[in-house]
Amino acid sequence: MALDIDPLKHVADLFTRILLERQAQEARQPVVPPSDPGTLREILDLELPDKGLDLETVGQRLHELVRHTPTTASGSFFNQLFGGREPASLLGETVAAALNNSMFTYKVAGAQVLVELELIKEMGLRVGFEDADGVFTPGGSLSNLTGMLLARDRARPRLRAEGFSGPRLRVYSSSDCHYSVAKAVSVLGLGIDNLVYVDVDDRGRMDPAALDRAIRADLLAGHQPMMVNATAGTTVLGAFDPLDELADVCDEHGGVWLHVDGAFGGSVALDPAQAHLLSGCHRADSMAWDAHKVMGAQLCCSVVLVRERGLLAGSLDENASYLFQGDGQELNPGTRSLQCGRRNDALKLWTLWQNLGNEGLARRVARLRGLATRAAELVREAPGLELVREPEFLNVCFAVEGVSAVALCAELTDRGLAMVGYALVDDEPVVRLTLVNAQVGDDELRFLFESLCEVADELREVDVAVDASVELAAT
Ligand SMILES: Cc1ncc(COP(=O)(O)O)c(C=O)c1O
Repeated sequence: MALDIDPLKHVADLFTRILLERQAQEARQPVVPPSDPGTLREILDLELPDKGLDLETVGQRLHELVRHTPTTASGSFFNQLFGGREPASLLGETVAAALNNSMFTYKVAGAQVLVELELIKEMGLRVGFEDADGVFTPGGSLSNLTGMLLARDRARPRLRAEGFSGPRLRVYSSSDCHYSVAKAVSVLGLGIDNLVYVDVDDRGRMDPAALDRAIRADLLAGHQPMMVNATAGTTVLGAFDPLDELADVCDEHGGVWLHVDGAFGGSVALDPAQAHLLSGCHRADSMAWDAHKVMGAQLCCSVVLVRERGLLAGSLDENASYLFQGDGQELNPGTRSLQCGRRNDALKLWTLWQNLGNEGLARRVARLRGLATRAAELVREAPGLELVREPEFLNVCFAVEGVSAVALCAELTDRGLAMVGYALVDDEPVVRLTLVNAQVGDDELRFLFESLCEVADELREVDVAVDASVELAAT
């Protein structure tokens, strides 16, 4: 049915309908059981038409697509380090999309640039950077890459102009760090073999003495230490590397660049009770901090913060005269970014911060930590479940006696009960529950553990039955 209304009103109406129906779906069906891609291709109208379709038909196709999309905003999503939906952030995101500014210059983004600068200033202050430089990026991976680029250019000031020569540049990171560190080493042409994995202690924190030994060995071998990547909130265990001690090691060796990958754990800076986990962060040179993880901003929303002003532009401003025409470097964030055209990721964080305030954000981070503590209690109380580590942050990793974590997680999703992931700890797959989604409350947590224990019991029974039939066949 073609409606004779203003297209933008029509779009707003379609958006409202889709959003409200999605919300109803999340309540009715918190986990969309996975479908195989072949089936989805058959039931969805994905092919691109020769003749354009009217908005109503596009809306219907979109609506159908949404119905078959995994529900990451419901209270049953415990997978990975994002989830949920913050209405105020969605508002900012939607308006940013409608405005369609590109965040490279003040000329075309105006007040939106001031929003980005305000957030960089405030987030910098939270981690102890008195006058932070920074820029929004599409995620922690890119924030880490940007930090590493600056470290490279500090270590080899002539490299930008002349390319590589001289001793190997070495990067140190804990063996539990995120894979984006290896990716950044590779993208920057440093050579994966020059990424030195440093041992962690039994809680998953980088061992400063092991770092010191690694740097000394490299110096003896004639290599050049370039950067230490410390993780604030590791991906699997949620561990925080001891930043002060790592900064001491960096200082001891002549000021090796210290980057903090706080993509996950940077948000503890917002909660006075947990901010101590970042103690020493003010001594770092750069930091990645994702707002789309623990803060709950809509994807994607990340910042790279740099303690010293001017370094970002020093590595990234190529003086494009057709683009940067006045207003100075600070007001033209494109001079500090790996990107040229850049979407406005700042606005959704600003609207979220406006809505929750400092107090609401602190409460959010504290509440998530409380949920992780509660989840650990539920693991301890449940027969057959065993914590493999005490939670350091929002990750609760546990083994399920006699059941494969891989099979259990798949079964929970197939039955539409929960989306939970698994990870390797001590080389064994274990359930890795992450409490990042603010849609989760005590009820959702209780339901998760009831379902998980029930499904685990059933899987054990199936295993016993299979074992018995194998034995029978062998006799
Ligand atoms: C510690 C850590 N660093 C970096 C990243 C990458 O962040 P993004 O997914 O925003 O690129 C992650 C993602 O989970 C992470 O856990």
